[in-house]
Amino acid sequence: MKSMNNDNWHQEQAAASLKRLLPRLEARFAASVEGDEWQEFVVRLHDHFPRLFRGLHELYGRQYDFFYHLESILAAATEQWIGRPAELKALDALRATDPYWYQSHRLMGAMCYVDVFADDLNGLRERIPYLLELGVNYLHLMPVFKTPGGDNDGGYAVSSYREIEPRLGNMEELASLASELRHHGISLCLDFVFNHTSDEHDWARRALAGDPEYQQYYRMFPDRSLPDAYERTLTPIFPDEHPGSFTYRNRLKKWVWTSFHNYQWDLNYENPAVFTRMLEEMLFLGNQGIEILRLDAVAFVWKRLGTSCQNLPEAHVVIQAFNALVRIAAPAMVFKSEAIVDPDEVRKYISEEECQLSYNPHLMALLWNSLATGEARVLKPAMERRFTIPEGCAWVNYVRCHDDIGFAFSNQDIEAVGLDAVAHRRFLTEFYTGRYTGSFARGLPFQEHPETGDARISGTCASLAGLEKALEENDQDEIECSIQRILLIHGVILTIGGVPLIYLGDEIGMLNDYGYERDVDKIGDTRWLHRAAFDHERAAQRRDNTTVPGRIYQNLLRLIQIRQQNPAFDRAETEFVDTDNPHVFGYFRTNGDSSVLVLANFSGTPQRLEGRRLRLLGLRKSNVDLVAGRVIVAARELVLEPYDLMVLARATK
Ligand code: GLC
Repeated sequence: MKSMNNDNWHQEQAAASLKRLLPRLEARFAASVEGDEWQEFVVRLHDHFPRLFRGLHELYGRQYDFFYHLESILAAATEQWIGRPAELKALDALRATDPYWYQSHRLMGAMCYVDVFADDLNGLRERIPYLLELGVNYLHLMPVFKTPGGDNDGGYAVSSYREIEPRLGNMEELASLASELRHHGISLCLDFVFNHTSDEHDWARRALAGDPEYQQYYRMFPDRSLPDAYERTLTPIFPDEHPGSFTYRNRLKKWVWTSFHNYQWDLNYENPAVFTRMLEEMLFLGNQGIEILRLDAVAFVWKRLGTSCQNLPEAHVVIQAFNALVRIAAPAMVFKSEAIVDPDEVRKYISEEECQLSYNPHLMALLWNSLATGEARVLKPAMERRFTIPEGCAWVNYVRCHDDIGFAFSNQDIEAVGLDAVAHRRFLTEFYTGRYTGSFARGLPFQEHPETGDARISGTCASLAGLEKALEENDQDEIECSIQRILLIHGVILTIGGVPLIYLGDEIGMLNDYGYERDVDKIGDTRWLHRAAFDHERAAQRRDNTTVPGRIYQNLLRLIQIRQQNPAFDRAETEFVDTDNPHVFGYFRTNGDSSVLVLANFSGTPQRLEGRRLRLLGLRKSNVDLVAGRVIVAARELVLEPYDLMVLARATK
């Protein structure tokens, strides 16, 4: 009852506020656009204002100048919308005709660092044919913004959201690249690093110079009393880098909240001015042609004493308010959340009103877990429990990215099969750092906690899947197995449902690069192991299937084409099945009359499935495996070779 009253109250307040604000916005802005265009904007405003009001009121309603901030926020959004280029307004209109475009089976993602893949933004234009050849139509570029020289967390310490790092190019080049990509059907995805700025951002510089207004943009403390109090319930994120979450700056004589590196200052979203300024930066970026905005480190944007300061309800409200404003002022743009946290928390960021897309870190972690254990015992029930997300949203599935692998699956999923979660994580760390006897992997620990021994893993897909070791030992069977492992886990992300995202370099099996240890700005951060310059020589072998890169590349292409060209994958349902074999993971993808059964053998030995069980699942005695391109007869049993992936076209009658 109370919440009903609350709802009514918010609705009435929202309606009254909009009534008061609209004429003021109209007086300021309406003359700069055509009448019809303004009317469309007003319709969107009416649609999304109630939830925007509710969110902002929740965050800032207690402040005496709430209405002043509300008006500033709307004015900022309107101004950015007015400045939105015609090509992007046309895109807004196009997306309105197919709002769930990102759920299409034709979507195929790739990600890279601009310098690593193509030197700079102009170089990237020349690489468009390579992307098209792979079927890529969603390209995520790692941060391209101005950063401090030297160590800058791989671009995640942003000094200006409106300037490109000079060695990569400039903002005009970014906008024209976005447009050229779009002309080729490729949507550009870029990061919005909105939890922190670098300590060289203009706001931080002003704060350092003593300006109290800008000091309020960050979280600063004159002594250790509050930092100590907070730290009682915080987990350090980069414990190797600096203990705790605060950094002392002697110029300020204050402790600054720095969740990540000491030069990344956490923004203070309790200050509505920060929300407004960051909204302007976000919409400015949207107006450069970004179609998918990757919201970096979403979990951290709100803090409260006595909590872990991760995934707080207000963090969601901040994103929901941004979402409403984007729907109003840059409606073609969608959000992707980067929440590498417990699966139950990851889900909470996913909705049409918050982030339409989300990384799927537990699928990623569980794929590596399945390769290490040779089983799908944890993967299957975990996916059954967690794969479904709200309609209108999509997972972004990946096996590797620029970051480390955190074993961010829930303890509950591990314990459900009778394993001890702590011991099991330790086993995986040992396994993927190659310390475990019998391991095929070559990786390095990342941010090993000096006290607990907890660590995450760095390394390229190929090196973690065994290729590096096998090549070194010139073990032909193992080379074969490692290729199959690479294809197997990519096969799953391509067929399971959601947007597959390939980390460029993995398609040609690039190996770890240990050279970063000689670079003073990179040493200590093992993530550089898998951020090596793109290997053009290897890429040149991709059409030769007698080479290792050629075998990986061509088989991957085949999997991509199966996904993009088979209607069974289009906005299809995923239904996990019991294969009655703990090593084999299986699921149906069904779209109307089209359906396929995907079977993935995670073990290094052949695995059998009983023919009767397959018929119980509706399969005939003979089916076509779209991967091998041949008829598979499973009268009595079906045999999957080591690390085999089959996509069986299912008889519909
Ligand atoms: C995200 C990025 C990571 C970065 C961190 C801090 O997790 O993916 O590379 O270190 O945010 O911005």
